[in-house]
Amino acid sequence: MKKHNGFASSLGFVLASAGSAVGLGNIWGFPYKTGANGGAAFVLVYILMALLLGIVGMTVEMYVGKRAQANPVTAVKKINSKIGFVGLLSVIVPFFIICYYSVLGGYTMRGIVSSFTDIGKDAAGVSAGLSDFMANPWLPALCTFLFLGLAVFIIMGGVQKGIEKASKVLMPLLFIILLGVMIYSLCLGEGVKAGLDFYILKADFKALGFKGVAAAMGQVFFSMSLGMGIMITYGSYTGKEINLFKSAVQISLIDTAIALMAGFAIFPAAFHFMEVEGIAASEVGLGGFALMFMTLPLVFNSLGTVGGIIGAFFFLMVTIAAITSVVSLVEVVTQFFIQKFRISRKRAAVLPMILALAISIPVSLSLGGHFTLFGFDLLTFFDEITNTVLMPVTALCVCVAAGFGIKRREFEDNIYVGKPIVGRIISFMARFVTPLLILVVAIFGIYSNVSVNVNYFAVINTAFLLAAVAFAVYFLSLVRVGDTDTGCNADELGYEGDADPADAAE
Ligand code: PHE
Repeated sequence: MKKHNGFASSLGFVLASAGSAVGLGNIWGFPYKTGANGGAAFVLVYILMALLLGIVGMTVEMYVGKRAQANPVTAVKKINSKIGFVGLLSVIVPFFIICYYSVLGGYTMRGIVSSFTDIGKDAAGVSAGLSDFMANPWLPALCTFLFLGLAVFIIMGGVQKGIEKASKVLMPLLFIILLGVMIYSLCLGEGVKAGLDFYILKADFKALGFKGVAAAMGQVFFSMSLGMGIMITYGSYTGKEINLFKSAVQISLIDTAIALMAGFAIFPAAFHFMEVEGIAASEVGLGGFALMFMTLPLVFNSLGTVGGIIGAFFFLMVTIAAITSVVSLVEVVTQFFIQKFRISRKRAAVLPMILALAISIPVSLSLGGHFTLFGFDLLTFFDEITNTVLMPVTALCVCVAAGFGIKRREFEDNIYVGKPIVGRIISFMARFVTPLLILVVAIFGIYSNVSVNVNYFAVINTAFLLAAVAFAVYFLSLVRVGDTDTGCNADELGYEGDADPADAAE
């Protein structure tokens, strides 16, 4: 089989997809959202959603991409030429995520340096250092710039050379370091029990509420890189040798394991410092977006100079995990640009990046408290738009489109070649269970968010406005029936930038 610029091996594909899935969502997002939504109950719902929605959604998206060997717009058009719009939506979502994800990437990079400068400081000192950094108008922007620059550098190397190679080495390394931090945290003694009670033992469903359930669903999509074209794009780079269902299960397990480990690293430590040093939850950041940036430095600090080194190394690893995620976000947009506008990989990667950088600067300023939008900082605003509205909507549409649009037989036979029963289950889930669940959770989630905070209407309206703009753009420029107008992977060969003919020969 001729493979176009795709992944060299099944392992490479799984690692690269896991590289996309594992990132700040696991180590920064999961613990803080757990902290904000009542702890153990959130974790329980998260795990259920990962099983019911995550694995199904991932399998379906990969299949849609693999089947079309093309970008999400073409891929969805190949299911049904009338609904290509869904594909465009899934190219737009990653763009918005890049704009705030890179700001957090910048924060994480700062952690590499501040691990040394923090040594010897107490909780108040650590959080003061962080607030100074956040409030500084240009430092976070500079870090964002560095972070995005690194990502573009990797992506310009192409799928195989850039993404696959980076993921193969770095993912296992991250796992080992996280394991070390987790074990250390669990051995801190005092406060550990309280941390574990909060994190996994004592579920408080009142504190969770429907808002929390919706947050858990959004977090599953975000963490597994679903509902935004990524698994369609990565799936499109695979050939016959990939078992989609098995890969999806492996990636989901890795992703969930890393998120849970991050919680085990953070909560016992947070409660330890709260108890031992008699400090407030806010000083370790419990329930706030800065949890990872506040608690972990305290852990490293308590180890003295060695801790500084471990801390720097830890934040370096998280930075790299974030880069492999941002690379996948950029790749979706890049692939689409290459195939739609027939431009080189280099240009297709740099253009969206410049735009993303321009938007990320106001995001970093807003996070530093310089201004808000409808009472939200821009990061929260973007995060809510994508997690609670756009990703669920896109994931739902893709599931329904694939489940009902692709011939049942073809669908079922391709999910797990040789075991059609797996295909049948996934097909059933994709048609009925998953969409229904997404719909119910999204609607109740939106309802309860609005009832807690009326400003939330602004989030919903903006999300639907964005979808409407995408819809208009689609019908004005992309609607032509057939797929020649948006192209497929094969179109990239011969364009400057992907170079290496060895990639194509197999
Ligand atoms: N899944 C990644 C994470 O958990 C982030 C990401 C989100 C990557 C969206 C791609 C798309 O950090």
